[in-house]
Parts: sequence; C-alpha cells; structure tokens
Amino acid sequence: MGDFPPALGLSAERTERVIRLAATAPSLHNRQPWRFRPLPHSIELHYDPRARLPATDPWDRELRLGCGAALLNLRLALWHEGIEPVTTLLPNLGEETALAEVRGEGRSSASPEQRTLYQAIGDRHTNRRPFRPATVPVEQRHSLIEAVTREGCWPHVVERGELGRLEDMVHRAHRVQLADPRFRAEMTRWTGQGPEASEGVPASAAGPEREPQDRWVLRDYSAGRAKQRVPGKDFEDDPLLLVVCSYHEGRAADLRAGQALQRMLLTATSHGLVASLMSQVIEVEETRQELRRLLGGSPHPRALLRVGYGSHTAPTPRLEPRELLL
Ligand SMILES: Cc1cc2nc3c(=O)[nH]c(=O)nc-3n(C[C@H](O)[C@H](O)[C@H](O)COP(=O)(O)O)c2cc1C
Repeated sequence: MGDFPPALGLSAERTERVIRLAATAPSLHNRQPWRFRPLPHSIELHYDPRARLPATDPWDRELRLGCGAALLNLRLALWHEGIEPVTTLLPNLGEETALAEVRGEGRSSASPEQRTLYQAIGDRHTNRRPFRPATVPVEQRHSLIEAVTREGCWPHVVERGELGRLEDMVHRAHRVQLADPRFRAEMTRWTGQGPEASEGVPASAAGPEREPQDRWVLRDYSAGRAKQRVPGKDFEDDPLLLVVCSYHEGRAADLRAGQALQRMLLTATSHGLVASLMSQVIEVEETRQELRRLLGGSPHPRALLRVGYGSHTAPTPRLEPRELLL
C-alpha cells in the first residue's frame, strides 16, 4: 500500500495523524460519517451517504453535527502542526457530499487554549455511567458556556424550574422512538458491538442496567447485556444539563453546532469533567419543537448533554484513516 496522501505541506505521516485525530470525534451510534480528501492545498471534509441513519436522523442533522465535531478536531490538529486553518463551510466543489474545505493560511503557533483543547482530544469519551454527586463549579460552567459561544452557537444551562418539563419530554421522545420498528432496527444494528467491530457502539461503552428510579433516560447500547448496577451507585438526580443551540437552521448551522458541541466537550474534558448525550428529545420532531418553546422560541436545540464528574471509560473503536479517504 502506498503512502498516505500528504496535505498542506505536511508529511504523509503527519497528514495521517491529523485525520486520525479528526476521526476521534463523537458521532451518532459511532457511525463515523466523515470522509476526507487530503490535497496539496486543502483538506476536504465530506460525509458518507452510507453512514446515514434515516430512522433516527431523517434530516441528517446529527450526521452533520458529528462531521462538525470532526471539523473542530481537524482545525485543532492543524494548529498543533503550526498551520493556521481557514475553513469554508459548504464549499462549492460540485459534490453534494462536500461539507467543508480547510486551507492553510501560512504558519502559526497554537494558542495556550488551542493546546489545551488539542491535549483533551484523546481523553474525551462519552460516559453513560452514574456521575459523582459533586457540583460543577461556576467558573467551569462559564467556560463550557463560553466554548459554545466561541463557535457561534447558543448555550443553555437547564434551570431547576425547567427540569420537570424536560424530563417529561425526554421520556415521551424515548417511548415514541422505541415504538418505531425502524428506529429499533437501527439501534440493534449499531449497538452492543463486540470487540472486533470498528464501527457502532460497543457493549462495553453502555451504561449500567436501567432502574425504575432513574430520572433521565440514557439509551441502552448494551443489546440486552447491560451490567448490573453497583449498589449505591445511582444516577445523579440533579445533573448539570446543557443544551447546545444554533441561531439558525440548515446545513451550515448543523456544522457550526457540531463544532460548538465538540469545543464544549473538549473544554469539559480539560476540566476533568465527562458527558453523555440524550438525543431523543432532539430527534423526535414534536419534542424538539416543545424544547425550543421551553427555551424561549428563538434558538434551535441541537444537543442535550449531561455533564459531571465520572469514572474512567475506555475509547471506542474507529475506522483507520485510510478507510476514511475519498
Ligand atoms: C449527534 C450525536 C448524538 C448522540 N446521541 C447520543 C444519545 O442519545 N445517547 C448516547 O448515549 N450517546 C449519544 N451520542 C454519543 C455517541 O454514541 C458516541 O459519540 C459514539 O458512540 C462514540 O463514542 P465516544 O463519544 O466515546 O467516542 C451521540 C453523539 C452525537 C455526535
């Protein structure tokens, strides 16, 4: 097999490393919908139509959210390589799958903040286990909020008075999805994967068995093999819940929201925090609109997250960079 195609004046090895880091981003059901085309003067980001999940994500919004998260990683990896990335969203490349084009505008060195976020890339993993009952300090909350704002999106910290309605919405959305055989088929196909799989959510990344007292519904990714709860290790009743919202709808807004989500997740990781997503309420149209009204009617909710202090979790598998080339 030949060398990895080099891009932006980087060696083949460094280009491969940049793509590998981009691909550690989170994606719905770990479908890894991103594809890359390294070229001498740019790296193109595309999506793979085969990675669509039409029952769960019929409008490909979450597919683009995942690609936006990969785009933030790509930008951070380029800064780390001394390249100033200049990004065009939805470039006119004559291909419907093109989501972004990243060019290098001269040499630059990463800022301390970019370095911190870069260092966090490999340590960020979705954590579906109960969190410790410790409050996230105000300064850390502020930096999570700022991370979302910095990527041109709207952060919302769920307030106590909103918890009851939100909980009801999440449960309703969960029931709607479980009643849909097409949704269940997608879950089954991409869930409870064994150690040999390079796509989908491995059973080892699922949280513990659900119990009736659990207030928040985390999806069961264990394919019926959920671990029994450690006695006394219940899910926190009152977690820090954040909603990443965009100002607009549309494909570019999805990509921005993905970058904002990833910047927030990496910021959280750098503070020793962990997070998991509860996307049911965003995926079911009726509850998405209801959540939008709860937030005042103007922002478009893109991701609901639970953030806190948790135990160590292992990375989930990824495709090799070569498999991600166009
Ligand atoms: C748009 C989006 C929606 C997601 N929704 C959920 C969800 O509802 N429940 C969940 O447990 N994980 C959710 N995830 C997390 C993915 O399952 C996770 O990113 C993937 O399995 C890879 O694992 P990692 O994040 O540990 O690298 C979501 C991720 C993305 C990007």
